[in-house]
Amino acid sequence: MAMRRIDLAKTGGKLDEALLSRLDPARMPAHVAVIMDGNGRWAAQRKLPRIAGHRAGADAVRRTVETAARLGLGCLTLYAFSTENWKRPRLEVRALMDLLMEFLRKELKTLRDNNIRFRLIGRSDGLHISVLEQIRRAELATMQNTGLRLNIAINYGGRAELVDACRRVAEEVAAGRLRPEEINEQVIQAKLYTHMLPDPDLLVRTSGETRISNFLLWQIAYSEIYITETLWPDFCERDFLSALIAYQQRDRRFGGVREASQGLTLEWNAGERLAPTGD
Ligand code: FPP
Repeated sequence: MAMRRIDLAKTGGKLDEALLSRLDPARMPAHVAVIMDGNGRWAAQRKLPRIAGHRAGADAVRRTVETAARLGLGCLTLYAFSTENWKRPRLEVRALMDLLMEFLRKELKTLRDNNIRFRLIGRSDGLHISVLEQIRRAELATMQNTGLRLNIAINYGGRAELVDACRRVAEEVAAGRLRPEEINEQVIQAKLYTHMLPDPDLLVRTSGETRISNFLLWQIAYSEIYITETLWPDFCERDFLSALIAYQQRDRRFGGVREASQGLTLEWNAGERLAPTGD
């Protein structure tokens, strides 16, 4: 079956008007991260091999990149292969790597033409040299692009990323370039694979599962989480827009209080101070 390609030109950037009208362009998330889940179940429902689910999942990746680019989103991070996914059958791992290479090979021109910057997020050691070469080629060819930042997490684990960051901090301390008391959140953040990206505002997970699965553990501290029952291969523009609309309806407080209730807190505090103390 011929695989469809990213197509930003054909529809002239047309998106679902009704859903689009409910989005506030001024309050778009700067960074959306996605746990793409449900490829296996999608295939099982059709009595197809799991690999067919991943192939359909790769088409959903193309649709999602198209939608993100059309919406003018700043940053999209897709979880394609975790450090734990090596436990899957050898043929399935091979198929996933092949799909990734096929994606990068076929879409490189589109990424370049549409000002999309591609980057790998994850441990590069452990990846086959041919996969790594394809990744580096795509990173190099798109590194000057200033539009959508497309990050694909491959051989990625949130704990592994923190271990790698700790090692790099320890190396600096050992070399005398950093004192232990100088280690703070900024120092650690600067050592993460995502050091050049804003933290995700929105984390989407498909297929109804409610786990984080070792994804961006540090970065999602204040992300809004949106879970959809849609299986990843069925994830379409409408699902993406629905996630963004749901995100815009959330009340983000980052551990503080809403502006309106902040006013109430101040009034209450003032009242408390004015109240007779009795002593
Ligand atoms: C989870 O579904 C999905 C994955 C482990 C791989 C995601 C890969 C793709 C979407 C295709 C290739 C990627 C790119 C970037 C072209 P699952 O297999 O765990 O599904 P299940 O939970 O239903 O079994």
